[in-house]
Amino acid sequence: MNHLIEPHGGALVELLVPPERANELQARSRDWPSWDLTARQFCDLELLLNGGFSPLRGFMGRRDYESVCASMRLASGDLWPIPVILDLPEAAAKGLAGHATLALRDPEGVMLAALHVEEVWQPDRMAEAQAVYGTTNREHPGVAALLDRTHPFYVGGRLEGLHMPAHYDFRHLRLTPSELRAEFSRLGWQRIVAFQTRNPMHRAHHELTLRAAKEAQANLLIHPSVGMTKPGDLDHYTRGRCYQALLHHYPRDTAKLAFLPLAMRMAGPRECLWHAIIRKNHGCTHFIVGRDHAGPGNDSRGKPFYGPYAAQEALSAHEAELGIGMVPFRMMVYLEDSDTYVPEDEAAGRRSLNISGTELRQKLALGREIPSWFTFPEVVRELRRTHPPRQEQGFTVFFTGLSGAGKSTIANVLLVKLLEVGGRPVTLLDGDVVRKHLSSELGFSKEHRELNIHRIGFVASEITKNGGIAICAPIAPYDAVRKGVRDMIQPVGGFVLVHVATPLDVCESRDRKGMYAKARAGIIKEFTGISDPYEPPHDAEVALDTSIMSPGESAQEIILFLQQRGWLSAEAADERSRREPERAASTAGALAAHPSAPGG
Ligand code: PPS
Repeated sequence: MNHLIEPHGGALVELLVPPERANELQARSRDWPSWDLTARQFCDLELLLNGGFSPLRGFMGRRDYESVCASMRLASGDLWPIPVILDLPEAAAKGLAGHATLALRDPEGVMLAALHVEEVWQPDRMAEAQAVYGTTNREHPGVAALLDRTHPFYVGGRLEGLHMPAHYDFRHLRLTPSELRAEFSRLGWQRIVAFQTRNPMHRAHHELTLRAAKEAQANLLIHPSVGMTKPGDLDHYTRGRCYQALLHHYPRDTAKLAFLPLAMRMAGPRECLWHAIIRKNHGCTHFIVGRDHAGPGNDSRGKPFYGPYAAQEALSAHEAELGIGMVPFRMMVYLEDSDTYVPEDEAAGRRSLNISGTELRQKLALGREIPSWFTFPEVVRELRRTHPPRQEQGFTVFFTGLSGAGKSTIANVLLVKLLEVGGRPVTLLDGDVVRKHLSSELGFSKEHRELNIHRIGFVASEITKNGGIAICAPIAPYDAVRKGVRDMIQPVGGFVLVHVATPLDVCESRDRKGMYAKARAGIIKEFTGISDPYEPPHDAEVALDTSIMSPGESAQEIILFLQQRGWLSAEAADERSRREPERAASTAGALAAHPSAPGG
């Protein structure tokens, strides 16, 4: 007999159809319009198909959507705090007129599901942001995704699933609600407390989950979200290895690890309710809610989007209705004198220690020690594999400045200095060279310049990601595109913007290529600084003016900056200059010791 908790709404709603029906849908889909799912829709579809989103039977229609926004309930009255909608651009939405069914496809074009379209409407996304997130501030990542990266039309309807989205990583950890329920039954687990996380787990989390399991007299399910989390979070591959390493620190047969392919919205209190519902569907009876659960932190003025315990209050108000028990936790802190972790309210008046996520990243970046009271050695090992110290990571030095400002000259000096230091491959993407090879068909319109910089940025980001050094030296006159390149590169390594701010009159008087004269005469059109704009950067890490500095001095400024920020090892450079005489002597010695060497 099965003693597990009932799913939300009373039954697990799995939407995969039997093979015969799948074949029939596949055959009929020839005449249907198709939609390639976005990353978020792909995650949502998986949880719709596998029952994680029970009792939903498809993407929400307008009544459910409006009711969820206004009162956190489906039209049926069931509690549901977050809209689960299929958003489409106007053309695709309008193209649905007359078609009753839409084929939903994965990035490879495989049809995963058929959506029987019932409604197409244009929502008020500002109102949705206010209702769901409590703000329209785009600094909130959920709001930015909704207002800037969600299509303007919503399509609601019933789903029939043909295939589950395919995953090839950590396959043994990707358990659906029914698989997890079967596993719990097999193990004889009836009381299960779930722990949601989007971060690697350290000793504080270990202690918290142990205490929670004890308090709830339950077994533990570590259930990290691995779909989409907050931009900038650690990738789920590294996290997965960390969780697996941590699992050995729990008493035998008390804890289980499974991945949840959820696209998080970072909606704080509403999201907390959602997480609890999803865990209930996966067979969990209890849910751990810590400080600022699923919150995005603070806005740019330092004001938190949600109160630290607002999520706990939200779940406690609906705990009885949902039938899942909340295990609330204050933040855990480390007490040095007793070498223990306690909730922060129990640490009053005693010396406590903590390391924030930002501090941890900083320590990893600079190769500093991570204390053993903070985390487990296996976890540190995994984090160090993903976050080598800066001096072992790739970076890009991106020059910007007017034609003739001295970008190429400094870039070439920097190139040889970095080659002299050695250790990482160095690639120079000079403006002229790029235009010959990578962007030969492009001119100098705004659109073409943007495309050119985007291409350079893409190549530089690939080089950086793979541990190399890219030096780029285009004019790059537009601020927004430079920022786009920064955003592309910073998540995978270092990005240093160097403004070669040599004044226009100096560049023009040099006129090494004779282009300024031609531009003034109108022979060359759209010439930067003369007949085309140049937007000086306000976010450059280094500014140089070659009318008062030599190329060598300019390159040295950049080297000093790179050393100061840890991208280049200061010791390596110092040691090299100290070792120089020794090296000459040892080479002579080697030749003397091998008189038969060529030339001897
Ligand atoms: S951009 O704006 O970043 O895409 O330009 P970039 O790829 O760096 O190319 C600039 C070089 O092309 C030559 N050139 C022009 N520059 C500016 N405006 C116009 N209209 C133009 N036409 C040709 C010029 O030699 C630039 O090289 P540098 O090394 O900057 O002098």
